[in-house]
Amino acid sequence: MDLRKIPVWAWPLAAGAATLLAALALMILLEPGRGAEPPRAGQVQVSGRADIGGPFELVRHDGVTVTEADFRGRPMLIYFGFTHCPDICPMSLVIMGDAMARLEPAARARIQPVLITLDPERDTPEQMALYVASPAFPEGLVGLTGTEEQVAAAARAWRVYFSRAGEGDDYLVDHTSIIYLMDSDGELASVFTHGTTPEALAEALQRFLEEERV
Ligand code: NI
Repeated sequence: MDLRKIPVWAWPLAAGAATLLAALALMILLEPGRGAEPPRAGQVQVSGRADIGGPFELVRHDGVTVTEADFRGRPMLIYFGFTHCPDICPMSLVIMGDAMARLEPAARARIQPVLITLDPERDTPEQMALYVASPAFPEGLVGLTGTEEQVAAAARAWRVYFSRAGEGDDYLVDHTSIIYLMDSDGELASVFTHGTTPEALAEALQRFLEEERV
């Protein structure tokens, strides 16, 4: 089954119910792995090639244009959001930071945490640089922005729903809230739904790293 056959409007809107529905959709749509462990709460395990993620070209928070090739060889923990988000994005990034802080330094250093903005208009590289430096967020968090087209293409590749809500400068961006774990080859390894605890995320990352090293 192809996720692309699902129209954009069918992706759920509200963050809470949305992530649950998105997770259910992913569980249904992603090929179940042979002999895979049953998914734990808040986590969808993925086996085989899933049609999520792919090539991208975006602008890093230091202003340098980067592509997926710049991240090869390191697993990426990716979150899509925006720096003006009042609650959902900071909460998710704090959970990512908390989870990564629970890993041994050597394990932590292998994972590249990434925030891809869904609000390139306000999230300039300078704004992203300020935001990702928050000590509450994962150490070494890389912020990626770009043109509207670059950001929209990345969101499409990860099947991320987003939509501007409200008028003027204070608009919000409704968006899917899912943490994606990509392996060293850039293939989707796991997705973590909104509400995944730092403990569960840390445990899953640890297990992933042990398996990937083999
Ligand atoms: Ni948000």
